[in-house]
Amino acid sequence: MTEIDVVVARSGEIESDTVAVAVLEPATELPRAAAALDERAGGRLAELAREGELTGRRDSATVVHAEVDGARRIAVGGLGDRDAADADAFRTAAAAVARSVKRFAGSISWLLDESLPLPLEEQARAVVDGVTLGAYEPGRWKTSGVEEPKLERLVLAGDDAGLDGPASRAAVVARWTNRARDLSNAPANELTPERLAEVAQELTAEQPSLSVEAIGLDRARELGMGAFSAVAQGSQNEGRMIVIRYEPESQKGDTVLGLVGKAITFDTGGISIKPSERMEEMKHDMSGGAAVVGAMGAIAELELPVQTIAVVAAAENMPDGSAYRPGDILTASNGKTIEVISTDAEGRLVLADALVYARGEGATHIVDLATLTGAMVVALGDLYAGVFANDDGWRDQILAAGAASGDRVWPMPLDARYRRMIDSEYADMRNTGKWRMAGAQAGAELLREFAGEGPWAHVDIAGPASLTYGRGDYLSQKGGTGYGVRLLAELASRLA
Ligand code: BES
Ligand code: MN
Ligand code: ZN
Repeated sequence: MTEIDVVVARSGEIESDTVAVAVLEPATELPRAAAALDERAGGRLAELAREGELTGRRDSATVVHAEVDGARRIAVGGLGDRDAADADAFRTAAAAVARSVKRFAGSISWLLDESLPLPLEEQARAVVDGVTLGAYEPGRWKTSGVEEPKLERLVLAGDDAGLDGPASRAAVVARWTNRARDLSNAPANELTPERLAEVAQELTAEQPSLSVEAIGLDRARELGMGAFSAVAQGSQNEGRMIVIRYEPESQKGDTVLGLVGKAITFDTGGISIKPSERMEEMKHDMSGGAAVVGAMGAIAELELPVQTIAVVAAAENMPDGSAYRPGDILTASNGKTIEVISTDAEGRLVLADALVYARGEGATHIVDLATLTGAMVVALGDLYAGVFANDDGWRDQILAAGAASGDRVWPMPLDARYRRMIDSEYADMRNTGKWRMAGAQAGAELLREFAGEGPWAHVDIAGPASLTYGRGDYLSQKGGTGYGVRLLAELASRLA
């Protein structure tokens, strides 16, 4: 897909075929930038608002032909109510505009507006997100009936000299988000663990501050990764523990950020096989790993001054003559033993060895991203990921990064009294909760056993990582959302 360039211009100096502006509902009272534009355009917008054709409703866009500011058309994005005009409303308005014009517009100039209730810098970031993520096309595998979108440029027009940096940083992160989305949407026959390792390897040509090492199954066994290799052993597509290192030119402080991702390229459930209905969606079970890869790309491109090590546990969970089974007892790389109850609780197993490895390689602050449990989807739906942490300060930093970035996170309890749910009669623990209750906590409790000393947070992204239906906001496309790239890039930039 064509990537969209982002530039900042002063409001008098724009050259685009489309000029865009946001309005509130009701649109009969135009905000300052829209009103000024409308004056230059002969009052067309006010007229449409009077007739009820322009409403300002959230997630709506109205396109009018008009010769104004050197452009041929005006696109108006609706923010909805003034009280609810937050960053998500701007993302949604910008996405609605991008979707409406991307087939015929080459360039959009978006007029930022100081009279609207969101600070200009946040408006700029949100419009970049909305246009870039909203224009995304999931149909990459279609051979007919598709036209490449024409849209290739977004100009942010505002008279604030400080917008350049934030806007271009947002553009970098949004582009890596779409790349993570492409990985999430890639089918499991294309995106095998080996291929994901190649994708990571290819990043090093683009970003020389990254280096990549892919640990194969034999080596993983030598390293004692008995949990990871058990999951991987049932597939013809060999597993890979992918390690990506980022060495900044200059380092601030002595934090070593550890990013750990679950990358099950397809989750059949294994011998504890899943029902066939909607099983195709389990190609997205590598979205945590995809987010970590995308975030490493963004962190490197932004040259953030924080050393980072990523560990992506890539494997395919298949039923097969060589697959692991319920009842198997596995020994992970920290020596702890796990009784397998369900081979469908595979994510926590591959992550166990990934967490031990990240800590062993010197990560001081770890965050893992995983499409871990259906229970998390039931609890929070497709809007929020849940975060569990062994350190309140670290958890709060992740919540703050979530709120600022648009990748929403909600706190979940990590409490030692949940540990009894995974007590086993035979081994140190079992891989599923004993009862139906608190399924996401059972997963988090198991992971805690492998996180070692120091701050660690587990983000269960099973809900927002991929969508069965559009969400009615800037993520209106089915499939991978790239959830986590914005969260992790924001977290890293706050550490730096
Ligand atoms: N990948 C699934 C979790 C999942 C479910 C992600 C739905 C996205 C949408 C995970 O590996 C899984 O199968 N979890 C089981 C755990 C259970 C066996 C304890 C689940 O949630 O049912
Ligand atoms: Mn599973
Ligand atoms: Zn899974």
